[in-house]
Amino acid sequence: MLAERTLIGQTVNRVDQKVTLYGWVNSIRDHGKLVFLDLRDRSGLIQVVGNKELLGKVKNGFVLAIEGKVKSRPQRLVNDKIATGGIELLVEKVTVLAKSQEPPLDVSGLGKKINDDLRLRYRYLDLRRPRLRKNLEFRHRLMQAVRQSLSARGFWEIDTPNLSKSTPEGARDFLVPSRLHQGKFYALPQSPQQYKQLLMVAGVEKYFQIATCFRDEDLRADRGLEFKQIDIEMSFVTRDEILALVEEFVVEVVETVLGRKISSKPFPKIAYQEAKKRYKTDKPDLRKNPDDPGELAFAWIVDFPLFEKTTTREINPMHHPFTSPNPDDLPKLAIDPLAVRSWQYDLVLNGQEIAGGSVRITDPKVQKQIFKILGHKDREIQERFGHLLEAFSYGVPPHGGIAFGFDRLAAILLGEDSIREVIAFPVNASGRTSVMEAPSRVDQGQLKELGLKTVDEDPDQTA
Ligand code: AMO
Repeated sequence: MLAERTLIGQTVNRVDQKVTLYGWVNSIRDHGKLVFLDLRDRSGLIQVVGNKELLGKVKNGFVLAIEGKVKSRPQRLVNDKIATGGIELLVEKVTVLAKSQEPPLDVSGLGKKINDDLRLRYRYLDLRRPRLRKNLEFRHRLMQAVRQSLSARGFWEIDTPNLSKSTPEGARDFLVPSRLHQGKFYALPQSPQQYKQLLMVAGVEKYFQIATCFRDEDLRADRGLEFKQIDIEMSFVTRDEILALVEEFVVEVVETVLGRKISSKPFPKIAYQEAKKRYKTDKPDLRKNPDDPGELAFAWIVDFPLFEKTTTREINPMHHPFTSPNPDDLPKLAIDPLAVRSWQYDLVLNGQEIAGGSVRITDPKVQKQIFKILGHKDREIQERFGHLLEAFSYGVPPHGGIAFGFDRLAAILLGEDSIREVIAFPVNASGRTSVMEAPSRVDQGQLKELGLKTVDEDPDQTA
């Protein structure tokens, strides 16, 4: 039986009492007769002092149960930097619960200078680092605050399938081969866009989901192959009502998790063309002093063009093909599509796009016209989007919504420069997963079952 546990964070209230602590050896300093070590659990760190007989065999990373007495430190030895810096534990008994090899990376510092691949290979050790523990805890609180705020506003959290059909968001799809329907594939969702619109046809009116989205695109500090969105959709609302509600929501959530008021309210609304002209970007950083940690500058960017021209001369949706043209510009759609403004809006925070959304097309005729402008043939429209057009023939309410990049929002609020610092098990810069190092080869039997053959030979087998 394990003795009753005191958390390290509680030891400051147990001076001169006997306690039993459980945790990991964070670091050891051997001073000859006396050994000092820092013991770490989820609530903090404490200095532990004992003689060589008791602590001599203990090594970095071991999991221990330690019985001892909490003592105040002499004034000159107080460490103001940690919560338990005024006390230490004098060891009476040590039980080793698990041994450890020497950890391959130091987890006591910020870890920013350690090679990324090493950190991700041993992510379960890297996550012991206080900076990342704090980030995980913050991410948890952010998620809870989002759920709380949206539920209180009458939104229902509804989950939608991950094995689905491609929804275009401008990236490549991840495909999953079907065993039951050989030669056919599911696509992992780039976003729940079409499902949330179908939920509006279903009469849900107010939907949200903290959704995992999958996009096979080139990685950057603010991009993952999979990432989380706070996905929102609502019916019977105008663009400005959506913006007002979303602004209230995000202010409430940010103020809750940071525990302070933010000053940049109401958020400025800047037209896309104006932003391009004035700031040379549609993601302007409006902070007064970007070196000032903690400053938050939100801005709405509105009145985007409906389409953009890419280098390959195709015409592409600026947001996605379900975004409504601005009704004032509808007459231009057939003649000069690139001049049509849309009802897209983005939310920018400190120079990064943290959310994007739009009022949607609900007229099947306009929706079809957009697909045609994008170069889709009738048959293709029917195959890829027939379900949506059909749903819209059964009474579709006016609707619109938005999706926040959850990881981006968390990273900015924490002052981290990459979303990898706020994700428990992110992929590395070349798209390999933490610890397990996927993608990996699968055995021939699995491929056979799926009716698949790979074109290249397995270099591991032929080498
Ligand atoms: P959009 O494609 O703009 O809109 O995505 C919404 C937000 O998600 C974040 N984001 C990403 N975060 C991390 N890694 C990525 N690869 C990545 N891609 C996007 C951004 C972005 O603002 N269905 C629409 C939303 C809607 O219209 O309601 C959509 O997905 O912060």
